Amino acid sequence: MITIIFVSNNGRAVVAPENSNLLRISLREKGGIPFKCGAGICGTCRCHFDAGSEYADAVKPKERRHLSDADIEAGYRMACQTFVSGDVSISWEVK
Ligand code: FES
Repeated sequence: MITIIFVSNNGRAVVAPENSNLLRISLREKGGIPFKCGAGICGTCRCHFDAGSEYADAVKPKERRHLSDADIEAGYRMACQTFVSGDVSISWEVK
């Protein structure tokens, strides 16, 4: 099992299976990552790996519509398209 910390939701920490989809766990565990489509289209679920980016899977072509190379290098991903296999801390812009 892995630990996912939702930094922008008062640091809420939840335990999840390895290779979990970030948005799915957020929905199940009330993590609070913003979303609309869940399908890589809207761009709402943009989030930042404060820690553990090495545990994210490969960037999907759909994510590149919303993220520049610099964004990706800086640790940004689209939560609905990203699976994690280790402990991570995730933040996002709170509106
Ligand atoms: S929720 Fe729409 S792109 Fe992720």
